[in-house]
Amino acid sequence: MKLLTIETTCDETAAAVVTDDLQILSSIVASQESLHEQFSGVVPEIAARAHVERILPVVDQAIQRADLTLDDLDAIAVAHTPGLSGSLLVGLVAAKAICVATGKPLIAINHLHAHVFACRIASGKEIFPCVGFVVSGGHSNFFHCTGATEFKHLGGTIDDAAGEAFDKVASMLGLPYPGGPAISRAALKGDPKAFSFPRPFLRDKERLEFSFSGLKTAVRYAIAGVGKPDFSKLNLSEQQVADVAASFQEAVVDCLVGKAMLALQKTGLELLCVGGGVAANKRLRQRLQESTQEHGYELQIAPFELCTDNAVMGAIASERLQAGMLEDLSLDIIPGLIR
Ligand code: KG4
Ligand code: ZN
Repeated sequence: MKLLTIETTCDETAAAVVTDDLQILSSIVASQESLHEQFSGVVPEIAARAHVERILPVVDQAIQRADLTLDDLDAIAVAHTPGLSGSLLVGLVAAKAICVATGKPLIAINHLHAHVFACRIASGKEIFPCVGFVVSGGHSNFFHCTGATEFKHLGGTIDDAAGEAFDKVASMLGLPYPGGPAISRAALKGDPKAFSFPRPFLRDKERLEFSFSGLKTAVRYAIAGVGKPDFSKLNLSEQQVADVAASFQEAVVDCLVGKAMLALQKTGLELLCVGGGVAANKRLRQRLQESTQEHGYELQIAPFELCTDNAVMGAIASERLQAGMLEDLSLDIIPGLIR
């Protein structure tokens, strides 16, 4: 069976054609990075309008690259939660329009579950049961996953997501958007011990929660003191930027790795599956490998190309198709953060 999958939860317009045995027939991702760069973050209105312009060409290309026509598809799947309202609506309306025009069934994708499923696509191995860990621009969440259609939320951030913190700290340091790759590059030449930034909740062995907003403020105080700084006039040296970047990255990674180990311990599960844009971070990947090995757990991390938003991971919809979990045209978006 062949599925068209559509992803427009944030600032990537993406479509893919995948099979129920998880072959990737095509994958198109139109990034909006250049549109949001000047604002150091995603502007929802700009994102939604850009999706409107791009969605049809992206879907067309995905079908053409797969060497298929609409008739050859068995179902249309779309990420309808969570995400930005305007962005989600564009993908959902496009998917519904295709379903109305062709009579094909509609399947709903939870974007966070799809990030975890990226590990399944990449490894070709069964991943359930596992602790699913999504670390992205909008989310830092743990799930107890017993199957592709059974995800139970265990905990996550109570304020900023890890990626959001990377983006905001990068902006303070005068580094380009998106901040994650820029910080990890700068950190290569920095001393992770130069600044001792807070690791919120890390010692609390009960809470499966993160808080990155205080860490972000600690970085701000470290580089600019209190008051209302003009970050553009800070004139930090290259080494200072590298040291802040490395110290900040280490603090985030300590929290992410520490809580991932706690999630495994609390659930009694043995496999950790990690996805989302921040999972592309090399230091995080290395530390997760070390810690899971040390504690005797298994680890799967999505490959780099499936960490940031894409439609291939929407192949999780094939499991819903097989389970007969189809939607009617009343399917709505569920915007916001966690579902
Ligand atoms: O999964 P994603 O594409 O979008 C959401 O669903 O949110 O993640 C984007 C986020 C951005 O915040 C970006 O800064 C972060 O992932 N990111 C990274 C790295 N590459 C992307 N964060 C840390 N290190 C990286 N190498
Ligand atoms: Zn995402």
